[in-house]
Amino acid sequence: MTVRDIFETMSYGPAPESDAEAQAWLEKHDRRFGNFIDGAFTKPGATFATRNPATGHELAQVTQATAEDVTAAVAAARKAQPKWAGLSGHQRAKVLYALARLVQKHARLLAVLETLDNGKPIRESRDIDVALVARHFYYHAGLAQLLASEQPGMAPLGVCGQIIPWNFPLLMLAWKVAPALAAGNSVVLKPAEYTSLTALLFAEISREAGLPPGVLNIVTGDGATGAALVEAEVDKIAFTGSTEVGRRIRTATAGRGIALTLELGGKSPYIVFEDADIDSAVEGLVDAIWFNQGQVCCAGSRLLVQEGIAERFHDKLKRRMDGLRLGDPLDKCIDVGAVVDPVQLKTITEMVDGNTEGETYRAETALPEGCFYPPTLITGLEPSSRLMQEEIFGPVLVSTTFRTPAEAVALANSSRYGLAASIWSENINLALDIAPKLAAGVVWVNGTNMFDAAAGFGGIRESGFGREGGWEGLLAYLEPDAKARALKPVAPNPEPATPQAPALDRTAKMYVGGKQARPDSGYSRPVWGPKGALLGHVGEGNRKDIRNAVEAAHKAGGWARASGHNRAQVLYYIAENLSARAGEFAARLQAMTGGQGEAEVEAAIARLFAYAAWADKFDGAAKSVPIRGIALAMNQPCGVIGALCPDEAPLLGLISVMAPAIAMGNACVLVPSFAHPLAATDFYQVLDTSDLPAGVVNIVTGDPADLAKTLAGHMDVDAVWSFSSADLSALVERESAGNLKRSWVNNGRARDWFGAEGEGREFLRQATEVKTVWVPYGE
Ligand code: NAI
Repeated sequence: MTVRDIFETMSYGPAPESDAEAQAWLEKHDRRFGNFIDGAFTKPGATFATRNPATGHELAQVTQATAEDVTAAVAAARKAQPKWAGLSGHQRAKVLYALARLVQKHARLLAVLETLDNGKPIRESRDIDVALVARHFYYHAGLAQLLASEQPGMAPLGVCGQIIPWNFPLLMLAWKVAPALAAGNSVVLKPAEYTSLTALLFAEISREAGLPPGVLNIVTGDGATGAALVEAEVDKIAFTGSTEVGRRIRTATAGRGIALTLELGGKSPYIVFEDADIDSAVEGLVDAIWFNQGQVCCAGSRLLVQEGIAERFHDKLKRRMDGLRLGDPLDKCIDVGAVVDPVQLKTITEMVDGNTEGETYRAETALPEGCFYPPTLITGLEPSSRLMQEEIFGPVLVSTTFRTPAEAVALANSSRYGLAASIWSENINLALDIAPKLAAGVVWVNGTNMFDAAAGFGGIRESGFGREGGWEGLLAYLEPDAKARALKPVAPNPEPATPQAPALDRTAKMYVGGKQARPDSGYSRPVWGPKGALLGHVGEGNRKDIRNAVEAAHKAGGWARASGHNRAQVLYYIAENLSARAGEFAARLQAMTGGQGEAEVEAAIARLFAYAAWADKFDGAAKSVPIRGIALAMNQPCGVIGALCPDEAPLLGLISVMAPAIAMGNACVLVPSFAHPLAATDFYQVLDTSDLPAGVVNIVTGDPADLAKTLAGHMDVDAVWSFSSADLSALVERESAGNLKRSWVNNGRARDWFGAEGEGREFLRQATEVKTVWVPYGE
């Protein structure tokens, strides 16, 4: 036997990590845990077993928290929050820094406990999960320190309910808890029922770090506990988990005036072009789909490989799969560990066994007894095949081929999800052309599954909304520090007892796809002045009109690609044309509302100038991530925004909503004030003469109460805003659950459209999605 033969045939000996310390910690707690409320563990209630999925052995009994337990935890959080928020940023930073230090100090114990409870390889929990947890707390100690100077005028939300999954138990805790605490909120967190232990250990560590009692509370239990937390008196819910539960939470929180972020499922494309470094792309797949047994929301689970290299690529991949080592997750030589629970193993098995399409290849590797699933590749699927569309959440890669870059983009985007994507190509020109075209919140160029506390993470479409990480993640735990004033309803002027005949009866049209449009219903209603003058008629829009407007908005997709400079020019031009007719608009406003119109028109012109200014200045960022490379945070338009405009300032309100939306490259469907609609219908004449491409702004008049449902429920609308009457907030949020579009509603709070509340970054943030594009470089 030659030395070479020896090297090639040598196999790895076991290198198990000791679990003695973790077992001792469990023993210290008699392997029975209560909840962690107000700084202490409660007496265990009814409990359930949490097991090591690799062996099936019970690790401990964990409490199934009741609704009363959740209420107690929320009460403790409520009591503790003002004092925590009242500390200086520096004082909070010191506690977060202590947490980071203690996570490092207890890194080994945390990693082993995580692996025991979840089944992930110790290499991953040690080198990735726990390392990222420490990084997260360090980073957020910094955000706490800088918060007051960098985000003036912002305040914490209050008590945050956080519900996390089992795939990255401690890391998801860190992603949720660190920004919440940095911002001055208190927390009630519910870990997943399969993996509660590291959250309980973290709770203990938080005491050691000097976190005041009540600021962080942990309630354990299953979905029923999660549902109780969603129903509790919290100010925000942050959820990571399945799209199905996310949708349920969206519905359950609708109309309650609480903030919500959802990080849901995915079916992320992994696109390999023929000029890719193939060996790296194959190796990348090991991290994309076999990392954490494929139980990763952003797993590169959908391989799209260019036709010319597909066969060679699949062959290399199969050889690499055969080399993956499955087994005891505590063994440092193991690549693929145990699936989290027999229930999940059954789901994966049934999905793969139920598939009759393509060719299935299972890695020729020894499969240990128990909760293990072999690395699997299914080639030759159709883009519409069930397994190409649905999340398997296991070590199963599905694959199809494409011919051209345009086809790759179309296939990649043919998914209801939009979480992440990988692009493999040595051609930087191609990669950077494709990255902005992908419907995903995160894009990795020549890489996969890169994460950092400084870089935003989160999805679009049915992958949810909101970002975690970076300043954008912190902002999801803050709100403008303004006194809430109740919105006063504004009703249309009533029909007078003896109506006066107008000089000339005019029925204002709607504006769809750059053209005047008659309402589908064929009906219109009169608009009266405060003294009984008939000012004109306005079309009664219906569902069909909304659908037409959404379709027209979709056709205006080119606007998203126009440069900021170009969009600014159009906004200036609109301002100029409005200014030319200022007197006419002022008179119209006065005739409808009885108030002074000049000031509103002036403010509207200034607002158009403001967003013309912003159009090329709402910059993204190059994030300071610890890799050789860059992570670009790009502000991209949401797509089509549907907005119910305010009644309080019929022209200024409409422009305050429209201008940020179009400045950022969105197309929009606007439903103007019901009480005073005519300023909006006059306004389309201004739009018509301002070089605005057809379909970028569409105006549908009608009763918002009738139109809101169609607009908020429309599957092709990407975000919906409501500044209309208070009672529409709940409806809009509830209907938005269909495609999980982002929503932004007034919840009955008035806004001063003339002042700072009516303009600025809050609007720009709502009009954009942060896409993080990672571009590592060097050898
Ligand atoms: P899940 O969405 O049911 O569980 C996630 C968390 O939500 C857990 O803490 C759970 O107890 C809680 N929960 C469940 N029902 C709830 C309710 N009605 N109200 C409030 N909280 C509730 O996910 P599950 O059942 O563990 O996994 C099912 C599938 O979900 C997986 O196969 C995978 O496809 C997907 N998933 C996606 C994750 C992601 O990171 N995007 C993470 C976990 C699962």
